[in-house]
Amino acid sequence: MQTITLTRPDDWHIHLRDGDYLPTTVSDVARQFGRAIVMPNLTPPVVTVPQALAYRDQILLNRPSGSNFQPLMTLYLTDQTRPSDIVAAAQSRDVYACKLYPAGATTNSDAGVGSIEALYPIFETMQQQQLPLLIHGEVTDTQIDIFDREQVFIDQYLIPIITTFPELKIVFEHITTQDAASFVAEQSANIAATITAHHLLYHRTHMLSGGMKPILFCLPILKRDTHQAALIRAATSGDPSFFLGTDSAPHPRSRKEDACGCAAGCYTAHAAIELYAEAFEQAGRLEYLEGFASHFGADFYGLPRHVDTITLEAMPWVPPKTIPFGPDELMPLRGGETIKWRLVQPEAGS
Ligand code: NCD
Ligand code: ZN
Repeated sequence: MQTITLTRPDDWHIHLRDGDYLPTTVSDVARQFGRAIVMPNLTPPVVTVPQALAYRDQILLNRPSGSNFQPLMTLYLTDQTRPSDIVAAAQSRDVYACKLYPAGATTNSDAGVGSIEALYPIFETMQQQQLPLLIHGEVTDTQIDIFDREQVFIDQYLIPIITTFPELKIVFEHITTQDAASFVAEQSANIAATITAHHLLYHRTHMLSGGMKPILFCLPILKRDTHQAALIRAATSGDPSFFLGTDSAPHPRSRKEDACGCAAGCYTAHAAIELYAEAFEQAGRLEYLEGFASHFGADFYGLPRHVDTITLEAMPWVPPKTIPFGPDELMPLRGGETIKWRLVQPEAGS
């Protein structure tokens, strides 16, 4: 049988939620990934180190027995963040980055930053403390077309931030455009980008033709096929500036199928590495999966690569259409449809 063995991968951008949702999200991420950068957009958001540590404890309580999965915590930047919060984060062994959400850009971003320029003293401290800045790179101006918000963000905000803080490590999260991919490729090694499996596998026509499909609605929104092609080229190029970040973002089915406004976010944690394998194989570049999934993110964050491996086998399977999600259910991406690759589970007791 055809198999792929990789150094154990990491997920550099995931939403695990909290409370009753953790048993599902944590067991899915822990099955395949060794570490994950955990997004702080809970309600209320994770803004201080003690909150991040309490959230980490909740995640660890839901870790399957025998798993060594490590949640890497982040703080949510707000207009109230102080330089002392950044110093405390940098000194903590469990906080690895801070996340910038422009206010109103996406799910649970109401507490996000109103004025990005007002955060410059915070970026200065992050640069000094060598704490990476993770950016949801979309402008929120309603005058700007939703399909253009990422590329406008580059000119309006990202270039000024990079120019002012050349030593600051920045991850341009879940990029969706050719503009973002070319921009990141031209920058120094301090600037990287994560790419999701769904942006590699789908474009906007998949979401919008034959009836709107809420399951594919996420932010930044899927773009046209030429942008998808640019993301595939970037992810499979072997350029270490691009690495895996699923942006797996579960919502209860009632919020996804809400006639008054579908929640943004795609759930891919149930089959993430398998979906990436499919995208890389379709591009004829399967041999580039390991760098993207298992090496480049660890190198960027200055963490050791894993020494253990995972194996995928060509064993088609069909994920369920719905999976339990606390008191609700959620609709995983590709539920009820065939996925070619399947993660080999370790034998019990091994
Ligand atoms: C994310 C969520 O649901 O928390 N949604 C999404 O569409 N990706 C937030 C985010 O990363 O934008
Ligand atoms: Zn996200």
